[in-house]
Amino acid sequence: GPQSTERGFDKQRNLDAARNDPAGHHLTTDQGVRVAQTDDSLRAGDRGPTLLEDFHAREKITHFDHERIPERVVHARGAGAYGRFRVYESMADVTRADFLQDPELETPVFVRFSTVAGSRGSADTVRDVRGFATKFYTRQGNYDLVGNSFPVFFIQDGIKFPDFVHSVKPEPNSEMPQAASAHDTFWDFVSLQPEAMHTVMWLMSDRAIPRSYRMMQGFGVHTFRFVNAAGQGTFVKFHWRPLLGVHSLVWDEAQKCAGKDPDFNRRDLWTAIEHGQYPEWELGVQLVGEQDEHAFDFDLLDATKIIPEEQVPVRPIGRMVLDRNPDNFFAETEQVAFHTANVVPGIDFTNDPLLQARNFSYLDTQLIRLGGPNFAQLPVNRPVARVTNNQRDGYGQQDVHVGTASYTPNSLNPGGCPVTASPDAGAYAHYTQTVSGTKIRERSPSFQDFYSQATLFWNSMADWEREHIVAAFRFELGKCEHRHVRERAVDRINEIDHDLAVAVAQGIGVDEPTATTTNHGRSSPALSMANLAGDGIG
Ligand code: HEM
Repeated sequence: GPQSTERGFDKQRNLDAARNDPAGHHLTTDQGVRVAQTDDSLRAGDRGPTLLEDFHAREKITHFDHERIPERVVHARGAGAYGRFRVYESMADVTRADFLQDPELETPVFVRFSTVAGSRGSADTVRDVRGFATKFYTRQGNYDLVGNSFPVFFIQDGIKFPDFVHSVKPEPNSEMPQAASAHDTFWDFVSLQPEAMHTVMWLMSDRAIPRSYRMMQGFGVHTFRFVNAAGQGTFVKFHWRPLLGVHSLVWDEAQKCAGKDPDFNRRDLWTAIEHGQYPEWELGVQLVGEQDEHAFDFDLLDATKIIPEEQVPVRPIGRMVLDRNPDNFFAETEQVAFHTANVVPGIDFTNDPLLQARNFSYLDTQLIRLGGPNFAQLPVNRPVARVTNNQRDGYGQQDVHVGTASYTPNSLNPGGCPVTASPDAGAYAHYTQTVSGTKIRERSPSFQDFYSQATLFWNSMADWEREHIVAAFRFELGKCEHRHVRERAVDRINEIDHDLAVAVAQGIGVDEPTATTTNHGRSSPALSMANLAGDGIG
């Protein structure tokens, strides 16, 4: 049946087969031949040239030469851990996802936390969004909840993602600066793309310098869809809440940590787990019935918006504990491959154009990052569910597929061929949604309000939080060398809150803006090329 688990439901048992403990063994070559000497290469004479026939030396050096793989194009620096998830009560009314049915059932997980902009060796305590990616090894296959520490994102459409990421990465000529939000390019981009301003507010807040991964929220960001056994859909936003509460560093601490211990967040997670202080998160959902799709003054498909909790409360549905560090950083934390399109029956997508692009991007990037089409066979990525299909060969193939015919249907393999299942037998069924429309690129008018939730965020801040935000804007935007970019950024901030814009302007040597006439909460026009020309960069 679809829930048979030949590799065992226990992910740790599943990993045992791959664990290689050198203790008590002789040193060998990759071919298993014992090695007598690994310090001196084979030479012609004691001062002579090295001989090509020294297969051990050649193999050792060749393997070393090939040790590196490309780092993730974003979220390159991370830390991961294994754990378990359990739902509080059956969610069968809204989803048929097997791992959300039974409070007795523990589902193994692997979680990777990350910074976004920095390279693999960069410091932990930088001002940045944090990734919070969870792989659930469910009996029905892997489900990945690839979330972030902010509930909103900078852009509405994934087609902009390469532009956005180029603006936060070091500049292409000098590869400076390392700090993402201190860039001229970053401020140039976000002020030219005002949909980014809500997330910019989060980035300038203390949320962007978490004290610990154990004290950080996570969000699925997009509106996803639950689907129950009757095929009925419910919109869902995912929230992770740390049981230790949400805590941040202050900027001065963050900078000191970056200098004194660049591994500050990674070390904190590792040590806590080593000491048995297992971090826990509660999974919560905001559920919205299909009939309420248009009940909000923003679009549920717009990833720059939250659903205010006053409008839709977060319902806690389960708990996750992380209780085991990886054995090997490269094998597990580096080679783990999360993908928004790794879904299981009962969980589906929406037409959020950011999500739609992600559903393309992750598999595509992993094909090059992990060297070909078989990375799902890597120990950390292997489902605990049985994998059977006709996908064959390719670099790094680990399985020895048996039988003469590798197509379905076939009548040649004596044991028969793998057959498709019905949804009742656990097969994935895409949500039945009626779609029609004219092929266009224009954004929906429902995506055009860029500022009112940024204002909502600012208005919800305590005085001390506001002080930190002003200081962050002054520090980060103040590093921006182009005056016209600083001015344009202040104009955007002015759309959020006039007092904030004045306070920022005073700290970065640009004129104070005049009070805006924009009616917060109403749509603001998107930038046109005419606006850009007015900024002096046309
Ligand atoms: C990596 C989250 C938007 C492309 C990641 C990771 C996370 C994440 C958590 C790191 C996964 C890990 O730990 O291995 C998000 C969230 C987004 C978002 C929450 C917005 C809501 C996008 C978009 C794209 C994208 C729009 C592309 C169109 C990538 C790529 C990687 C990545 C290529 C590297 C994956 C790899 O090499 O395995 N993202 N991301 N992301 N993301 Fe996103």
